[in-house]
Amino acid sequence: MHLSTATWQEIGARIAAGNTGIIIPIGSHEQHGPTGLIGTDALCPQIIADQAEKQSDLLLAPTFSIGMAQHHLGFPGSMTLRPSTMIATIVDWTASLIRHGFDRLYWLNGHGGNVATIQAGFAETYAPYSLAGTAAPFAHKLINWWQLPGIEKLCRDTWPTGHGSHGTASEVAVTYWAYPDRETLSRMVLDPAIAPDGPIRDAADYRARFADGRIGSDPTQARGVDGGKIVAASAAALIADATAFFGEPRL
Ligand code: NI
Repeated sequence: MHLSTATWQEIGARIAAGNTGIIIPIGSHEQHGPTGLIGTDALCPQIIADQAEKQSDLLLAPTFSIGMAQHHLGFPGSMTLRPSTMIATIVDWTASLIRHGFDRLYWLNGHGGNVATIQAGFAETYAPYSLAGTAAPFAHKLINWWQLPGIEKLCRDTWPTGHGSHGTASEVAVTYWAYPDRETLSRMVLDPAIAPDGPIRDAADYRARFADGRIGSDPTQARGVDGGKIVAASAAALIADATAFFGEPRL
C-alpha cells in the first residue's frame, strides 16, 4: 500500500489493527556523472521499495527526494537541503506520522551523504523524550539500500572493478532497469574509464577534483538486466528486514 494512494479511513483502519510500521524511501537529487540520472539516489530506494510493496503488505510513505547534496551544486540540476533544513524536515515528517500512531519508521536511504544528517534528525526527534525522562513512543531504523543483507556482495560480484562510490555501476543499473530508454547513456566513452577517488569537501572543491562528477566508478558497465537482479534481491531483503523491525517488542 502507498500512503499517497490510500484514503484516510484505510490508513486509520490499518493503524487500529496494529499495523504501525511505515517505510520511507529517502534520497537526493544530484548529478551522477555523464551516464547517471540526477534522481538516482531518490529513484533507487523508491524502485526497491515499490518492488517490495508489490510482494508484501508493507506501507510506503512518499519519497523524501531532496537530500544533503551541497557538494554536488557545481553541476547543473543538483538540488540540496542544508543540514539544518533537512533535520527540521525529518522532525516534521516524524511528528506527522507518529501523531496518528505509526511507531516504527524505516528509512531506506539512497545517498551516503545523507547519513550524518538523518542521524542528527533522529536525535532531534528523540531529544524531547530523553530530556523529559519519558520513553519515546516510536523508533527509527536507517539503512542504505546497498547495505541490505547480501547486496554488497552481489554488487561486488557483478562489477569486480570500477563499481566506485558515486555514480556507481549498481545504482545506475537499477535506474536503467526502471527507465530502460535511458540505458543508451551507457554507450558513452568516459575519460578516464574509471574515475578518480578522493575526499568530499565543498562544491567548488568537488568540481575541481571530480571533473565529470563520478567518484571511483566506471558506470558504462551498468546494464538494466543486472539492475533488475539487484532490485529483486534488495526487495526480498527489505521485506525481511522491515518486517523484523516492525515486529520488535515495544517498551
Ligand atoms: Ni548515488
